[in-house]
Amino acid sequence: MRLRNVCRLTKPTALVVASLLLTGICVAPAAAQDRVDDFRLNCASCHTIGGGRLVGPDLIGVTERKDRAWLARFIVDPQSVIDSGDAYAMKILDEARGVVMTAVPGMTIDRAMNLLDLIEAESTADKSQFAGIQISDRPFTAADIATGREIFLGTQRLTKRGPSCVSCHSVNGIGVLAGGKLGPDLNAVFERLNGRKGLATWLSAPATLTMQSVYKDHPLDDDEIMSLVAFFSDKSVAPPESGQAATLIFILLGMAGTAAALVLFDVVWRRRFRAVRRELVPDTPLEGKG
Ligand code: HEC
Ligand code: HEC
Repeated sequence: MRLRNVCRLTKPTALVVASLLLTGICVAPAAAQDRVDDFRLNCASCHTIGGGRLVGPDLIGVTERKDRAWLARFIVDPQSVIDSGDAYAMKILDEARGVVMTAVPGMTIDRAMNLLDLIEAESTADKSQFAGIQISDRPFTAADIATGREIFLGTQRLTKRGPSCVSCHSVNGIGVLAGGKLGPDLNAVFERLNGRKGLATWLSAPATLTMQSVYKDHPLDDDEIMSLVAFFSDKSVAPPESGQAATLIFILLGMAGTAAALVLFDVVWRRRFRAVRRELVPDTPLEGKG
């Protein structure tokens, strides 16, 4: 008996220890992975390495254009370097049409140096994992948009068998009622992720936790990305009011639900009330009443 008890205790404990060890093992060699994740999460929406300009310049070979100490300072606090009137900063600001790079919260010189190491290594690679995708510049067609919509809704299956977007997202009121609530509404995602090239790059290698885990082994192909980007760029699919319409439907459904509940309660309570009252009334008629 006692022995068994000990086993019962140690089994979970052993599990905890094992998982701690595993975590240790998984975390230890993560330094290299850390900077890859850091770049993907915080930089890749504005920069490619070898894939051309997005909002910010292509960072291929940047450490040959400018010294690392300067670049690290710029990465930590772009605005203050620009405010200092530095000539090189003025030049790259001008090339970015005046868009100032946003400071990444918690950035330090060390972290920036690690990122510059990564950029340097990726710059000499045959094709950097951050080259982004080469999405065509041709205007989107109605067919692109229609296909994107089908993919979003899942009526056209993804070639790599990833789940449909509507199971977690809504957009422009589409899927507000049917769709999942796990992911954010994608109404303004085309603008938010910096247009055709930015959104396409993002979708080719999603930077966030859920998206990355869902599509890592089921990546979208280039045609699918093109169609989805076309769909997200299209503002005529559903007017913005439909978002409000959906909200209204929600409210109405809520009110209908409340009304139904009130009626139900009323019926139930009235019965109960009567039942109580009946017992309060004596079975035998009161005497001397008549
Ligand atoms: C919101 C978009 C945006 C994000 C996010 C962003 N950058 Fe930038 N970056 C820019 C822009 C725009 C410039 C050009 C200078 C300017 O206009 O501020 C730039 C310039 C740079 C430069 C100098 C490039 C050159 O040609 O000399 C480096 C290096 C750089 N960024 C690295 C990074 C790193 C590393 C990250 C992630 C930690 C990052 N950036 C995140 C927009 C961004
Ligand atoms: C299993 C649920 C799930 C599925 C399926 C899913 N997403 Fe997401 N998505 C999320 C979540 C959750 C987020 C919020 C960030 C995160 O945690 O990854 C997100 C974020 C995003 C973003 C970034 C939004 C922003 O404003 O930064 C885009 C773009 C996106 N998803 C597009 C898609 C597309 C396109 C599909 C279909 C091909 C899709 N998602 C399928 C859950 C999902």
